[in-house]
Amino acid sequence: MNGLPREVRVVEVGPRDGLQNEPDPVATTVKIELIEALAAAGLKTVEATSFVSPRWIPQLADAHEVLRGLRRAEGVSYPVLVPNLRGLERARAAGADSVAIFTAASDTFSRKNTNATVSESLERLAPVASAARAAGLPVRGYISCVLGCPYEGDVPLQRVTAVANDLIQMGCHEISLGDTIGIGTPAAARTMVEHVAGVTGMARLAVHFHDTRGQSLANILACLQAGITVVDASVAGLGGCPYAAGASGNVATEDLVYMLHGLDIETGVDLTALVRAGHAVSRALGRAPNSRLGRLPEYESRQTSIDEPKD
Ligand code: HMG
Ligand code: MG
Repeated sequence: MNGLPREVRVVEVGPRDGLQNEPDPVATTVKIELIEALAAAGLKTVEATSFVSPRWIPQLADAHEVLRGLRRAEGVSYPVLVPNLRGLERARAAGADSVAIFTAASDTFSRKNTNATVSESLERLAPVASAARAAGLPVRGYISCVLGCPYEGDVPLQRVTAVANDLIQMGCHEISLGDTIGIGTPAAARTMVEHVAGVTGMARLAVHFHDTRGQSLANILACLQAGITVVDASVAGLGGCPYAAGASGNVATEDLVYMLHGLDIETGVDLTALVRAGHAVSRALGRAPNSRLGRLPEYESRQTSIDEPKD
């Protein structure tokens, strides 16, 4: 196929985007083991947790313990989400090596997520980005609802581009474009990234698809053909809320890596080790993995033979 990159950096967001929605408490040790297994599988960026208000996201209230408890692998970065200066202070106290700030292309979603309109959130985030950069921490910026909002419907491309530009002006090294509700389809996704890249450049962009309507892989392929080389994903398809109809996790990292390797695109990820990480966390959560690959008997048996004692 034409126009595909030779290499893609997969940004693993399962420990954060995936686990933030779990209805039952997840042990800190399970989170740490997951993050360590993902790094051991070859992922170079593993978003570890969030230093947001525990009133808003109780599931990640142990962010400090998670980040402090990790055995960090060389060459791997463990970004964390921060919503405000308080979050940045907490992230620094826990030894964060990089941070991500987040806003949206829709005011209603932004208010529901952070109690601030988009412009209020950008005002709140500007000092966070500059303090993080002054402390030597790279800053990623997320934009939610880039292909549609659950409350406002269609989102104008100009709005997405304007917010991306604001985040770049604040010093974000990368902008992750979030299809929060998995509403996009391939042509719309490609048009959107090309539009934003007209202002930011393609090299600064990442894509972040939730798989609500099963469109993620098709959308990612269309974005790769447009020049995208950074893709977010969640191991075992973690994410979504079992109590909110239709909410869904990100594209499963296993399925993404399978597609990329099939296209001869390098990721540096050991697919078998990744599937095992997905099995292990799914076992800990008491359910089957939500990746297509992780449900295949051939991967189940591969896992069993690896897990068997050697003697
Ligand atoms: P607020 O209620 O307007 O702010 O929340 P506040 O300053 O009044 O704080 C409320 C309480 O939280 C206070 O505690 C603060 O001290 C405390 P109280 O006095 O009531 O006991 N607080 C904090 N505690 C610890 N760490 C902090 C912190 N900040 C305040 N950093 C706020 C505003 C932004 C804080 C809140 O709305 C919030 O934390 N929102 C986060 C929501 C969130 O994490 N959403 C999920 C991540 S975004 C996402 O998933 C989308 C993405 O994946 C891309 C995509 O898919 O589209 C990235
Ligand atoms: Mg997300």
